[in-house]
Parts: sequence; structure tokens; C-alpha cells
Amino acid sequence: MSFKAQKIKEIYEGKVAKKYDLSMNHFFARMKRKAFNDSSLKNGDCVLVFCCGTGLDFPHILRKIGKNGKIIGVDFSTEMLKKAKEKIRKNNWENIELIEADITKYEDKLDIKADVGVCTLGMSIIPEYKTAYYNLLSNVKKQGEIIIGDMQLATGWHARLNPFTIFLAKRYGGTYEGHQNSLELYLMMKKELTEVKKREFFIKAYYYCIGKQ
Ligand SMILES: C[S@@+](CC[C@H](N)C(=O)[O-])C[C@H]1O[C@@H](n2cnc3c(N)ncnc32)[C@H](O)[C@@H]1O
Repeated sequence: MSFKAQKIKEIYEGKVAKKYDLSMNHFFARMKRKAFNDSSLKNGDCVLVFCCGTGLDFPHILRKIGKNGKIIGVDFSTEMLKKAKEKIRKNNWENIELIEADITKYEDKLDIKADVGVCTLGMSIIPEYKTAYYNLLSNVKKQGEIIIGDMQLATGWHARLNPFTIFLAKRYGGTYEGHQNSLELYLMMKKELTEVKKREFFIKAYYYCIGKQ
């Protein structure tokens, strides 16, 4: 694991996990809901969630896939996954499997092809985000959908607010470079996927992008 990736792991094995939901759920819930509503997620789908963290995406996904569907959540932080496990137990969710793994080294470990692949607030903090992205693609079936939601560098006159949004994201591993990587990732999705759509929110500092393989 690179030095930068190790630093990210340390953040999420530290204090951040304890108060993560309190600070993050309220702020991002609306934008996430919009993305999942805009997706093709349907009853019975199998959904692979990279960087699942404490599982804040799970309720949005479960609303769409129902009890016949399945979520496979992957994250490399034991502390974040502990919170996800608590949530699963409290809500009696029976169709979620959690895997502790580094998604930049994950390619060989999955033996299923998911209908949909999701990663929210993950790619922009991963130095090897291209590897993570291609791992996601390789574990989603052909014609399957990819949903990415993340922070990004704002452009146009909103760009003057980038230092502010990067400051807010810093506690969670956000950097100028990471937010810039989101712009590159979007271009990759636009080029390599079909039916690609992108929406921007919060002074253009957050986006979601959905496309089909
Ligand atoms: C900002 S949180 C996002 C959690 C969740 N997706 C959400 O939207 O609330 C980022 C998560 O990515 C995980 N993560 C970062 N790099 C990773 C990697 N290389 N492999 C697996 N998980 C990683 C962290 O442990 C953390 O739980």
C-alpha cells in the first residue's frame, strides 16, 4: 500500500468512524437519494458497493432493490465496517454482505458479476483511483450500471470556492489533487461507458455520474 493510501486508512481507522454518520449523513443524503432515483436500480438487483464505509448508501439502495436484491459492501477500514455491521443488525437487514478489502487490490477476490456498481465519496480520496474504478467495472456484468458520486473541483466562477470545499473535505482525506481526479474520472466514464449522465450540486463541488458498461 502506498504511503498516501496508508494515510487514508489511518484516517478511517481513527476517530472519524465514530462521528462519521452524524456529520456526513445529513449533508449528502439528498444528493445520494437523487442519484439512486436517477439510476436503473430495480427489485432483485445485486449491487456491489465499493468504499461502503458505515453503510450510508444502503438504505437508498435497499429501497430500490427490496428484499430479493443483495448488497455486497467492500471497505478496508475495520472501524467503518464495524459501524456498518451495527446498522445492519439494528435494521435486521438480511441481504447485505460486508467484505474487508482494499479495492485497489480486489480484482481476483470476487466471483460474482453484480448488476450495479456503486462508489460514493471514495474515488476522490484513493490515490490509485483508476485501478479502483477498473476493479469496479470488472466486477459488474456487461450492460450493468456504474454509479459514482463524489467531490470534485468546481469549474467556472464556482472555482473560487474550491479552497473552501477542499478545506471541508480535508478531515476525510480530501485534497486538491483528489478533487481534480474526479474530473478525469468523469472523462473516463464519458468515454468508456454508454448512456452517461452527470449532475452537479453544492456549488458544483459534488457530482454524480451514472453510465452503463
Ligand atoms: C468518505 S468515506 C465514504 C463512505 C460511504 N461511501 C459514504 O458515502 O458515506 C470513504 C471510505 O472509503 C474507504 N476507502 C478508502 N480507500 C479505500 C481502499 N483503497 N479500499 C477500500 N476502502 C477504501 C474508507 O475506509 C472509507 O470508509
